[in-house]
Amino acid sequence: MPMIVSVPKEAVPGEQRVALVPELVPKLTKAGLDVVVQFGAGASAGFFDPEYEGKGAHLETEVFDKANVLLKVQPPTIDEIGRMNEDSILISFLQPYTNAIAINALAARKITAFSMELMPRITRAQAMDALSAMSTIAGYKAVLIAASRLPKFFPLLMTAAGTITPARVFVIGAGVAGLQAIGTAKRLGAIVEAYDTRPAVKEQVQSLGAKFAELGLASKDAEDRSGYAKAQSEEFYQKQQEMMSKYVATADVVIPTALVPGQRAPILITEEMVRGMRPGSVIVDLAAEQGGNCALTEPGQEIVRHGVIIIGPMNLPSTVPFQGSEMYARTVTSYLLHLLKDGTPHLDLNDELTRGPLVTYQGEILHEVVKAKL
Ligand code: NAI
Repeated sequence: MPMIVSVPKEAVPGEQRVALVPELVPKLTKAGLDVVVQFGAGASAGFFDPEYEGKGAHLETEVFDKANVLLKVQPPTIDEIGRMNEDSILISFLQPYTNAIAINALAARKITAFSMELMPRITRAQAMDALSAMSTIAGYKAVLIAASRLPKFFPLLMTAAGTITPARVFVIGAGVAGLQAIGTAKRLGAIVEAYDTRPAVKEQVQSLGAKFAELGLASKDAEDRSGYAKAQSEEFYQKQQEMMSKYVATADVVIPTALVPGQRAPILITEEMVRGMRPGSVIVDLAAEQGGNCALTEPGQEIVRHGVIIIGPMNLPSTVPFQGSEMYARTVTSYLLHLLKDGTPHLDLNDELTRGPLVTYQGEILHEVVKAKL
């Protein structure tokens, strides 16, 4: 009997992506797997049932109880975990540091759960880097939201009715999302400045045509082995707020994206700094899901404080569901193929790529950091 890989329709309200797109079904069937997709699973992303069938998938009403391997976007609900087979494999985003209830339930059900957030950032894993793929979307979309809310143009325009000066955009945190935001804002014609605690980023910022904000801060130990930012001291963050005040005050749009893995996002824009901004300016806080980089951000809301529009978007990747699904599906498919040998899972726990994202295994929470956080 071939192993069954199932793809459900996502249950979380507002989630429009799907974990597998039709184009990738043959990759799995060629590897000896039977692909089962829930009716309507891809519809909200623009992928319809006949396309999946045409590529060799089977359509079913209930897919959880059939799966040897389940591919998902959002962490499964408790109800969904209850419908999964014991000893089956789950590959999904799991929000592993904050999602104790689901992680414990997965362990109790002896599910082998891999968290796409925990993919090691090594060259071998680049095609499996779901976080980078989704950050690309978030960075792009944040700029479009800002541009549509700002009561000004982005580009310099010379018109018969006068010259329009370009908007100023300040991006805080130039990782994957930040760099994409910089590129998108530049393409719309804004003047862009950016800052990151990791000094390595300066050249990348400049190569996109933006100016690197020199704050005169020496961040000690800015990044860890995998290229992620390390947390800084409270004193450092205070100094950073001080030094960034003038950049924030002169910007029309501020896009903070600063994250430290596994921690609440650092507060980098205080209420005082918001008060210093021009009314009508816009903050799109890409750190909203981790609590926000702006002290006033309300995750999931758009508010106006001191005349400044503060937007805390949640799940931006789901707002570009077509490519959001394609990109995500490529990462999970590559990862699943990595785990297989002759059509069946072969888990080499000494392999960094297998072990890194592995959260629950044989009834235990295996991932040390996740275990400590929970
Ligand atoms: P992230 O989403 O965790 O953080 C976003 C950015 O915020 C990072 O650039 C971080 O340095 C910055 N940040 C944190 N605290 C800050 C502060 N106080 N002020 C200003 N900025 C602050 O990071 P992301 O975007 O997921 O990736 C970070 C880096 O990891 C990439 O730029 C890249 O160098 C590396 N990377 C490596 C990959 C690979 O080798 N396969 C794949 C993807 C990323």
